[in-house]
Amino acid sequence: MSTHIESTTEVSAQITGRPLSLSDLVAALGAQKAVPALEQVFEWLENAEISDKELEPYVGFKEGNYWRHRVCRNEFAEMLVLCWRPGHRTPIHDHNGSHGVVRVHDGVMWETNFAFDEEKGLCYKSGQERSRGDVTGADVPDIHQLGNPEVSGKDLITIHIYAPPLGVLKTYKVGSPEIDLYIPDDSAA
Ligand SMILES: [Fe+2]
Repeated sequence: MSTHIESTTEVSAQITGRPLSLSDLVAALGAQKAVPALEQVFEWLENAEISDKELEPYVGFKEGNYWRHRVCRNEFAEMLVLCWRPGHRTPIHDHNGSHGVVRVHDGVMWETNFAFDEEKGLCYKSGQERSRGDVTGADVPDIHQLGNPEVSGKDLITIHIYAPPLGVLKTYKVGSPEIDLYIPDDSAA
């Protein structure tokens, strides 16, 4: 469903040629009356140009694990900024019914995709390297792992939109049919 605000955003971007700022994205998500489609979310993040200054309140790193900073959330979608030191990575997971799009703000992200085989369990499928400005989407029921490779030698900052917002995720292990549940850690500790 295309809302009035979506149309306005599209029109203004066409007329002015202006990329979407972080506050434009917050406004677009806030105007949703239903879960936005993966294609729509991808288009928003592909047309975004977010300054370091706008992102500053959501940038912070911790040792041991990546840090998730929530920018906004409603019943239809949420946006987060994730900050990763070299070597930080997610578990292998799917989004348990949500689709998600990631834009690399700075640094290098490795994305690994997996397939679930009823007999063999979880198998490696493909891997990609994403760098500054790249946008990648995960549909339902894609299984993947994201991370900042140890060998990058630099921090990674990524911007994520999930629709609907993430709840409990399913996690997997390579070569195993076992599926566990996982709640992403939003704490600062
Ligand atoms: Fe994910």
